[in-house]
Amino acid sequence: MENCLYYGDNLDILRRYVGDETIDLIYLDPPFNSKATYNMLFEEHDGTKSAAQFQAFEDTWHWDHSAAAAYQEVAERGEKISQAIIAMRQMLGDTDMLAYLSMMAIRLIELRRVLKPTGSIYLHCDPTASHYLKIIMDMIFGSQFFRNEIAWSYKRYTASSKAFQRLHDTILYYVKSDEAIFNVIRNEYGEKSGKADSHYKQDESGRWYRWQKRAGKEPYKIFLSEAGRRIGDVWDIPIINASAKERLGYPTQKPETLLERIIQASSNPGDLVLDPFCGCGTAVVAAQKLGRRWIGIDITHVAITVMKKRLIDTFEPDPNFIVIGEPTTVEDAAELAQSDPYQFQWWALGLVGARPIEQKKGADKGIDGRLYFHEMDGGETKQVIFSVKAGGTNASHVRDLHGVIDRENAAIGVLITMEEPTKPMRSEAASGGTYTSPWGVHPKLQILTVKELLEGKKIDMPPVHQVNVTYKRAPKQKKKGGQPELL
Ligand SMILES: C[S@@+](CC[C@H](N)C(=O)[O-])C[C@H]1O[C@@H](n2cnc3c(N)ncnc32)[C@H](O)[C@@H]1O
Repeated sequence: MENCLYYGDNLDILRRYVGDETIDLIYLDPPFNSKATYNMLFEEHDGTKSAAQFQAFEDTWHWDHSAAAAYQEVAERGEKISQAIIAMRQMLGDTDMLAYLSMMAIRLIELRRVLKPTGSIYLHCDPTASHYLKIIMDMIFGSQFFRNEIAWSYKRYTASSKAFQRLHDTILYYVKSDEAIFNVIRNEYGEKSGKADSHYKQDESGRWYRWQKRAGKEPYKIFLSEAGRRIGDVWDIPIINASAKERLGYPTQKPETLLERIIQASSNPGDLVLDPFCGCGTAVVAAQKLGRRWIGIDITHVAITVMKKRLIDTFEPDPNFIVIGEPTTVEDAAELAQSDPYQFQWWALGLVGARPIEQKKGADKGIDGRLYFHEMDGGETKQVIFSVKAGGTNASHVRDLHGVIDRENAAIGVLITMEEPTKPMRSEAASGGTYTSPWGVHPKLQILTVKELLEGKKIDMPPVHQVNVTYKRAPKQKKKGGQPELL
């Protein structure tokens, strides 16, 4: 089976596509109900962070119809978890917290179903809801299968408050049965601390060893990897700082080292790893680097676009994955345009590699996306601006775009439309003039239909290698299948 990236709600995807007892390891990092709205920070064309932030997903869950439906379904199962959720409703009332817990419970039930008897699950959360989630996990997986509450501890600057600084996340680790895979991981940190350096030498393959003396017998070799201490449940792993190479600008991106540790401990090469809330894909990239197969699910096109790029950049020339659930036909695209115009917009902009723009900002009025390029290395930064129309379009949209091109001093403006453009629209675009680059003459006003984009038609603009990356490039994997060094 190929590695698979699904666009959609994980509850739906799990039910539709993931069979019973097929997964070896699950890592999930759901939004935390922290009432914050995380913003996507895109790389700005000059290398500084963009001030125009874009909402990648709303980290809030509301008590609404779908939460109530999830609650009802869990409450009616007649299992231990049903009693727990009913009790939680009595405790919490019809609050957003109950909404969050109901949505999590229904998904965790599904996750247990897909896990193999030898499988493990790691639920990444924070103090906002970890205490409630542990009860839910106990009820679904069984308290006898709770293994650890891992504290992922990190350093960061926090706002001053009359409390201790919050410097850890919680990861709840459960197994499906006592047969679960567990590979002991030892702490090799000693070799770098200076203490061990004087005793240990490195052999040709890079492994650290020392000779252990024995009275009256030949000394024998001890490898540090086997001699180190078994790691505990407090993991000191740095967060991804602002200048880290692996940082992609996706909010809540987790460090690969964290995921590598989980994957190494609870799976073996060839095993199948699932991340149902996969964001910018840290778990799936770590899984692939370690020779595991994977399934990733996310509900936003922004996440899917960032992940596709990250996988391609990291594993070129053989990224080896497929995407399911993205529109591949005009009918699919029309369906998306109708059901969710924003998702449609993000998806369409992803097709041309453009960056979505937050709509609320007055300064960006009339622009849905942007793409920057340089005519020559180090030359002036030019921009292509985009307007995306999910529904009906007419000549006034083309005229408006013309006005925005002038206002923004953009090189090219592109109208992406679901519908076929009318004749007046075509002639309005044709009278938009041209932009001359060292590569030739390009129409200043271009109209591209979704059908054309799906058929591979491109914007008429200077060649792609001159275009500055909109999403930051992920560092390429150094050694295929190699085991990364542990902290
Ligand atoms: C905290 S982020 C995960 C970050 C990820 N661990 C990483 O390192 O990039 C949570 C992700 O869950 C996604 N999400 C939220 N609700 C979802 C749902 N019902 N189904 C699938 N994905 C969902 C969000 O779009 C977001 O990308």
